[in-house]
Amino acid sequence: MGPIAVALLVAFFIGYIFWGEIVELAIRKPAFGRAQFFTDKLIQHTLPGTVLDIGTGAGHIAALLSRTGMTVSAVDVRAHVLYVGMWLIGAPCARRLAQTDRIELATYDGEHLPYKSSRFDNVTILFVLHHAADEMAVLKEALRVLRVGGRLIILEDTPEDARQRQTNAISDALLNAEVHSEGRNHSKEEWRAIFDSLGAVRLVNEASFDSSMFRYLHFYHTMFVLQKVGE
Ligand SMILES: C[S@@+](CC[C@H](N)C(=O)[O-])C[C@H]1O[C@@H](n2cnc3c(N)ncnc32)[C@H](O)[C@@H]1O
Repeated sequence: MGPIAVALLVAFFIGYIFWGEIVELAIRKPAFGRAQFFTDKLIQHTLPGTVLDIGTGAGHIAALLSRTGMTVSAVDVRAHVLYVGMWLIGAPCARRLAQTDRIELATYDGEHLPYKSSRFDNVTILFVLHHAADEMAVLKEALRVLRVGGRLIILEDTPEDARQRQTNAISDALLNAEVHSEGRNHSKEEWRAIFDSLGAVRLVNEASFDSSMFRYLHFYHTMFVLQKVGE
């Protein structure tokens, strides 16, 4: 074996072993910048104590929540190989942040969360539901693991016309390097009806905002803050 082949082999093994550290470092600045923007909005509505971040992705929002002193658990589905961004970047980065930021990280099947009922003071589901194969299953499980009186905070893309829907679809494809997705967006009214149909929750706050990153690229989101009420 020649010296170039040996060097390539060594580089491959170093890359393989330290992949989590490499991707975390590579995306740290923009990813924490984005995460801070959303964390600042949702932290105003969380209760002190424990939080479960469902569909944590690369884990930056979970890491920021942990840095505020909350006890953070984070869970995601095992990355689909066609969901390239998650498989190659998101999941390895989340594993790295779980080590550096004291996050209890788990994976699950998308339907049955590996936690006992009423365990958490807060549950966050951030830009996840429109990717989920069964959004009602995710919501019902979120409510099961949330204590009565606890907060369920949901962030979703809520495009209101064809142009906004297009922008959101492009952002999903580009930012998540996403080839595979269920990709269903709902309007704000549709989300409210879905939450109503769950029962046992009360909408305590709703805020819509635009997180435009570039002058011509606008992303439309809504944050829904729900409180679990007794059966
Ligand atoms: C756009 S990313 C959002 C990641 C993170 N919440 C954030 O805002 O940075 C969508 C995430 O939803 C996850 N996801 C898809 N289906 C899911 C399900 N049934 N349960 C939990 N997470 C799911 C994906 O694996 C991915 O991490």
